[in-house]
Amino acid sequence: MALDTSITPALQTEGLGKSYGEVEVLRNIDIAMGQGEFLVLVGPSGCGKSTLLNCIAGLEEITAGRLMIGGRDVTQEPPKDRDIAMVFQSYALYPTMTVAENIGFGMRIRKVPKPEMDAKIREVAELLQIDHLLDRNPSQLSGGQRQRVAMGRALVRDPKLFLFDEPLSNLDAKLRVEMRAEIKRLHKTTGASIVYVTHDQIEAMTLASRIVVLKGGDIQQIGTPQEIYDTPANTFVADFMGSPPMNIVAGRASDGKVHLGDLTLPAPAGLPTDVKVGIRPEKLSLADGAPDLVVTPTMIENTGAECYLNFSLGGSTVTARLPGRMDEESTDEVGLNIGAGALHFFDTVSGQRLVD
Ligand SMILES: Nc1ncnc2c1ncn2[C@@H]1O[C@H](COP(=O)(O)OP(=O)(O)O)[C@@H](O)[C@H]1O
Ligand SMILES: [Mg+2]
Repeated sequence: MALDTSITPALQTEGLGKSYGEVEVLRNIDIAMGQGEFLVLVGPSGCGKSTLLNCIAGLEEITAGRLMIGGRDVTQEPPKDRDIAMVFQSYALYPTMTVAENIGFGMRIRKVPKPEMDAKIREVAELLQIDHLLDRNPSQLSGGQRQRVAMGRALVRDPKLFLFDEPLSNLDAKLRVEMRAEIKRLHKTTGASIVYVTHDQIEAMTLASRIVVLKGGDIQQIGTPQEIYDTPANTFVADFMGSPPMNIVAGRASDGKVHLGDLTLPAPAGLPTDVKVGIRPEKLSLADGAPDLVVTPTMIENTGAECYLNFSLGGSTVTARLPGRMDEESTDEVGLNIGAGALHFFDTVSGQRLVD
């Protein structure tokens, strides 16, 4: 999605870097985020997501580049002057205060008049569907309800930018899915600009208007969920985004063809001889008519709605994601088709994508 440059970006970083002494944790981070975008920073643990969010918040000083929020250079400004609100993974609520007092705490400090404060608390509580809990104490709430209160504290602020750091990580799987839908709804309703950190690629895919994939302090790719999924910039992104991950097989290309073990498939011209070939598991299907390849299962896993059939191809284990159910003990040969345009090509050494 191209950024509309006529509108002041919600957030802009230019050559942002962060080092702790000798240790470089973030390098050359260039992000331009539009108003109302839901930008998700995703990557494995330790890749620098929280550090980047803390730099945006001003909780950490950046050591290179600059940072603008709402078009204003805030690089030198303390957190309180940046007009941001943050929701963390651990949502420490004040245990002796009611839900209403917790949500209103910041407004009380800022001496917002009581009628205005009460109205705002009610509005936000209704939005979060916790208006029936306003008189309770945090100890009388479930994990999901506490997380809503924590979000409520951020929402009453009406800031330029919301920052979320893995806000759902402490919740169990089912609640996480529910809260994910809630957050999506909140974003739709409020039109807020949100930077959201997660290590969970499903959260990233479902919530983001655009995703920033990080690895080891470097941006790997920025794009819409579809762009990231359909045209991953390198093998890291291809592997990280998708479950099961994209299969990557060593191939040999020649004359408009690519050879993967015994299998020969059409390929674009101009590929290097040695190439890494990616195939998403769902692009393999049970053969309808003549199979493109016949495989012997090495392992079959049934998840309920679908099954993962593993087999060996060109020295790698490849997974096909098939609808329905199969006998997990079966080693009978299975004929598969490969969807049109299913192949991705990557450089063997750099892992970079070779063709669009
Ligand atoms: N205060 C610090 N001093 C030195 N290294 C740090 C400090 N804080 C974080 N790091 C390092 O920065 C890297 C990124 O950390 P973090 O941003 O917390 O990752 P993530 O949130 O993606 O899991 C890690 O390797 C971590 O060890
Ligand atoms: Mg983190």
